[in-house]
Amino acid sequence: MAGRIPQHFIDELMQRADIVEIIGSRIQLKKAGRDYKACCPFHGEKTPSFTVSPAKGFYHCFGCGAHGTALGFLMEYDRLEFVPAVEELAARLGLEVPREDSAQQPAPLAPLYAVLDRSADYYEQALRAHPAAVEYLRGRGLDGETAKTFRIGYAPPGWDGLLAQFDRGEETRQHLLAAGLIVPREGASGHYDRFRDRIMFPIRDSRGRVVGFGGRVLGSGEPKYLNSPETAVFHKGQELYGLYEARQAERRLSRLLVVEGYMDAVSLARHGIRDVVATLGTATTGEHLRRLFRVVPEVVFCFDGDRAGRAAAWRALQATLPELREGRQVRFLFLPEGEDPDSLVGREGPAAFGARLGQATPLSDYLLQELRQQAGSDSLDSRARLAELARPLVGLLPAGVYRELLTDRLAQEVGLQPQRLTAALGGMPAPEPPAPPARRAAHRPPGGRASVVGQAIALVLSYPQVAATIVPPPGLASARLKGAGLLAELLQLTRAHPDLNPGALLERFRDRSEGPHLSALLAAPTQVGESGARAELADSLQRILALEREERLASLASKAAAGGLTAEEKEEFRQLQRGQAGSAR
Ligand code: CTP
Ligand code: MN
Repeated sequence: MAGRIPQHFIDELMQRADIVEIIGSRIQLKKAGRDYKACCPFHGEKTPSFTVSPAKGFYHCFGCGAHGTALGFLMEYDRLEFVPAVEELAARLGLEVPREDSAQQPAPLAPLYAVLDRSADYYEQALRAHPAAVEYLRGRGLDGETAKTFRIGYAPPGWDGLLAQFDRGEETRQHLLAAGLIVPREGASGHYDRFRDRIMFPIRDSRGRVVGFGGRVLGSGEPKYLNSPETAVFHKGQELYGLYEARQAERRLSRLLVVEGYMDAVSLARHGIRDVVATLGTATTGEHLRRLFRVVPEVVFCFDGDRAGRAAAWRALQATLPELREGRQVRFLFLPEGEDPDSLVGREGPAAFGARLGQATPLSDYLLQELRQQAGSDSLDSRARLAELARPLVGLLPAGVYRELLTDRLAQEVGLQPQRLTAALGGMPAPEPPAPPARRAAHRPPGGRASVVGQAIALVLSYPQVAATIVPPPGLASARLKGAGLLAELLQLTRAHPDLNPGALLERFRDRSEGPHLSALLAAPTQVGESGARAELADSLQRILALEREERLASLASKAAAGGLTAEEKEEFRQLQRGQAGSAR
């Protein structure tokens, strides 16, 4: 594994990246004052509400709320994951991406990708030279175009067809071995091809690089599939077969269908259903879901209608719960017994299959159905059992709107008030999430008090170089007002790194729960210009401290009225009252 990308490099990248150039090379931008405008690439519109601010290093669409940095744009628009997006940005600037922790230098991966790609080429060529293999694919309903899209190939029989494509040098051997393409001979020197006489499905990562293969026997034989072993570039439990191809086929995917097999994904694509990925026959993992939700808001799982399929669906549901958020949708499609997506679309055609997709069961319905069945149907007892069965599942959900909705539905089902059910479920819901969902926060600051902090944070984010000149007042970091700690942290950060621009500052919070809230604050239009920012920020800080004092005074006063102040608290109370009198003058 490569080490982490050091933070200072991301900072530098964000400072040097020209967001106008990066976005402008992908969509048509028009200058409008100090900013640039365009029709938003993330939703359909006729009048431009997509704005790029070079000063902030930030883009924002007033129509759909999309926003982010240059890095964020590459991730969204080019559908890249974080590291590839960093690499892309760095490459544009002619920079090499450094890695932390070079103690154990990881072997470079480029040669592995290279031999994998060349092997895929070879298998593709070999397919054309072997009519029996082509016949097999034809017999399964595939055409040349689909084979080309998925780079489907054929590994001929024989022990060294692939080996013969490469030089005999030791280094190349090591690369082929590390890529899982050849196997050492037992009890003898030398190697032989891992894949022989099989239809080859190259598995590509999100950038389209071949990372491994699945090889199917022609007709019957065991094992039916032979897959690449785990290697430095291939992790079976994380890859989604067909994801790259689906993104290529449709720039703006809104949904992805998850099936189990290579043939299912390929065959659906052949019938024009392109938004499909396969899990390589493994159970669905949280990592799979995170990758899916980075690309689309809706996931439809497709399972066989038999017992094994139902069990797999239930496991998928459990893997899904921790990843659910407002705005993410998951549905389940159960196929008739004995069918898989490949056989069904072959028999019924894409329209009928599409109709089934449209009627897939929402996750919450499936969950309730399943719980009802597990709980049995005898009146009172079964309700208690249902609540009991639901408890660990609801516990998997992150706190938030989705969890509340599901709790409400469960309450209905067992005939309890939601609060009573919540109590019965054992002290849920969990504490409030640290930040409200980004978009709402941008337009409706939660109450006047929090919004003073919010405004101050927005100022720091918009003008970090101004904020860098302000010493965070003592007491801010420990203040109880919501967001005060975060504000103090941001001020510290800008002082420690006075060169950070807004985009760089924001990128430092990418993996933090506060990240979305911060970018929403930066996306909201700033009322204050740079020249007025310092005074405004200083003023906000005073107001925040005053509010904090008031709040603390009120809470101590009520505690005093109840007769319960400690000696320390009494002293604090006196101090605060004195301060109050002072500031009232
Ligand atoms: N699988 C595997 N090894 C096996 C069997 C299955 O890795 N011995 C994985 C493959 O990724 C396969 C998936 O599990 O695609 C689903 O298995 P199955 O439904 O049996 O395969 P299909 O893709 O439907 O293949 P086919 O229609 O050609 O039988
Ligand atoms: Mn099948």
